[in-house]
Amino acid sequence: MESSINKISAQIAGLDPVEALALLADLFPGKIVFSTSFGWEDQVISHMIFANKLPIKVFTLETGRLFPETYYTWGRTLERYGENIHAYYPNTEAVERMVSTKGPSSFYESVENRKECCSIRKVEPLNRALAGNDVWVTGIRAEQSANRQGMSDLEWDEIHRLIKFHPIYNWTLDEVKAYIKQYNIPYNPLHDKGFPSIGCAPCTRAVAEGEDFRAGRWWWEDQSKKECGLHEVSTEQK
Ligand code: ADX
Ligand code: SF4
Repeated sequence: MESSINKISAQIAGLDPVEALALLADLFPGKIVFSTSFGWEDQVISHMIFANKLPIKVFTLETGRLFPETYYTWGRTLERYGENIHAYYPNTEAVERMVSTKGPSSFYESVENRKECCSIRKVEPLNRALAGNDVWVTGIRAEQSANRQGMSDLEWDEIHRLIKFHPIYNWTLDEVKAYIKQYNIPYNPLHDKGFPSIGCAPCTRAVAEGEDFRAGRWWWEDQSKKECGLHEVSTEQK
């Protein structure tokens, strides 16, 4: 499959995101999934999938620490489209062990603890969600961070051994907002309160005008450490 990346890239070049998603769904029937965190990029893609009835399974990683506004957006999305969004939860025993020994906010104490929490609440459930699939669709955009600018809209994910596709990789934030407005798509109210990027509640805060998109994520850590393990690239040193 890795070797087919160039061929598929050539096939999707020039297609719009919906056409590209439809083509991938045709090429990999029953083996293509989309991960949503209900951020505005993800809402755009959910709309593309649900409004066009594309056969792509949509899932979310329910970390147990999401904002109330995120649950609200999740509910509004179900009301709007009437389609299933599959929830993956962390392993109960692993959470119980971590919280019992380290307390509920261990992630503030060290990068190691933070990565442990992300690993339990996001990475292990993600691995289960991706198992057996060939294509993983995400809402990543190049503009989101320097790290992400070095990616490509279709790429091989060596860690999960599947194709990763970012249908709106080259969109600007203004394009995302315009699409949301055009189709009246429900979106997380936190976006209007200074939150361009929304993760777990204790690990996300608002950013000031002009700050990086991801400046409010794990704001107490070094810039270089700020990926949670969902989108790490095997060749990178984190
Ligand atoms: S993160 O790695 O820093 O958390 P970010 O919030 O930028 O990622 O989101 C990038 C993409 O990762 C989203 O478009 C979505 O596809 C996926 N993603 C992030 N968090 C979740 C989540 N909780 N559940 C499902 N997918 C997620
Ligand atoms: Fe835990 Fe924070 Fe990572 Fe969420 S973002 S899994 S609360 S460390």
